[in-house]
Amino acid sequence: MRRKPIVGISMKIYQNRISDAIEYAQSISKLEKNDKDVDLFMLPSIGTIYPVSKIFNKEDNQIKFGSQNIASISNGAITGEFSIESLLDMKGTYVEIGHSERRRLLNETDTVINKKVKLTLKNGLVPILCIGEPKETNSSALKKEFQKILSADLDGIKPSMLENSIIAYEPYWAIGKSQAANADYVAMAHKIIRNVLNEICGEIAEKIRIIYGGSVSKETAGQVTKSPNVDGVFVGRFGHNPYNFQEIVNVVKASKLK
Ligand code: PGA
Repeated sequence: MRRKPIVGISMKIYQNRISDAIEYAQSISKLEKNDKDVDLFMLPSIGTIYPVSKIFNKEDNQIKFGSQNIASISNGAITGEFSIESLLDMKGTYVEIGHSERRRLLNETDTVINKKVKLTLKNGLVPILCIGEPKETNSSALKKEFQKILSADLDGIKPSMLENSIIAYEPYWAIGKSQAANADYVAMAHKIIRNVLNEICGEIAEKIRIIYGGSVSKETAGQVTKSPNVDGVFVGRFGHNPYNFQEIVNVVKASKLK
């Protein structure tokens, strides 16, 4: 099955000044103006989403945007959270859910993550569900781990709803490092994820894009996307320079669109 490659970047809270976010969004929008073979997205720091949305909502732009989190309810009493209602109002597309930093540092549980995935799908947006293991391990342990996480995070969701969803495989131990996980290990993990998705939601699993994230750079993006089960990359620090982001996109294109 041919799946369209996808490359995205999350700014976490590295880029928080509105002028910097606008400058970055304008740069990548210009650099990727004619790129229609690959889906592209940026997840700005929360305080900069609105100004960035104005750039990406222009007609000739190829890049979509989203948020790095949403509250588990759309409206009500959760102090300090970000509502999907705002993202819908800004015409966002993607919602990142369950990044390991949120799971570990903010104690986000699979129950809450499951609610967020459901809320995102109900509102017609695209969840980017992040999963990963805390330590490098073997294939049978990985399979057990992914079965546990995915069955909890996707519990009660009709398979047909998941067709456009994205799974980001982000091994905790490869985030914030000097280089990405080894390409063979990534290939193994993605294959297991695809199989587990098949167990959970049947043939829709073939349509779900699975992307790799964790210290990916222009040097490693080609290697990690070699496997047929890796549909793109989720970039962090090594895409903060817009030209590096563009190069990562080009490397992924060269690897996936042969
Ligand atoms: P990193 O972040 O590339 O800076 O490690 C990746 C991520 O957490 O998505």
